[in-house]
Amino acid sequence: MEPEDLLAVGEVSRRTGVAVSALHYYEQLGLITSTRTTGNQRRYPRFMIRRISLILVAKRLGIALSDVAHVFATLPMDDLPTSRDWHRLSRRWQSQLDAKKREIERLQHELTGCIGCGCLSMKSCRLLNPDDTLAVQGAGPVRVVHETS
Ligand code: FES
Repeated sequence: MEPEDLLAVGEVSRRTGVAVSALHYYEQLGLITSTRTTGNQRRYPRFMIRRISLILVAKRLGIALSDVAHVFATLPMDDLPTSRDWHRLSRRWQSQLDAKKREIERLQHELTGCIGCGCLSMKSCRLLNPDDTLAVQGAGPVRVVHETS
């Protein structure tokens, strides 16, 4: 790799808008890598900017860094992610967003049932007892609500 293909951390930070401390954190997580100069300074391959761009997109979509790390493990660390890689990642993240959307819609539906009710029943309120999970703990009340007023 030619020296002009390697960027100092400050240059990567300036080009991506990502704080130097965050770049170090991403490196700690194994999302990006750098090499060291003889003076022990970090140098990032120019193509690492594209990986950082993917991290920024994932963050905007609300994708956890642990999931980014999971999918990045399938990408080459020593080369640019290809358009095929991007297609695969974006489809995975789209399906995660779809799942989140369905969950939000389900919660909205349950909340709609509670508006105007206010019973806050541990037994029958679906927001407090989704899928009647408390039923497996036995019949009758399984939680005690302490009133503080
Ligand atoms: S508050 Fe009554 S069902 Fe949720």
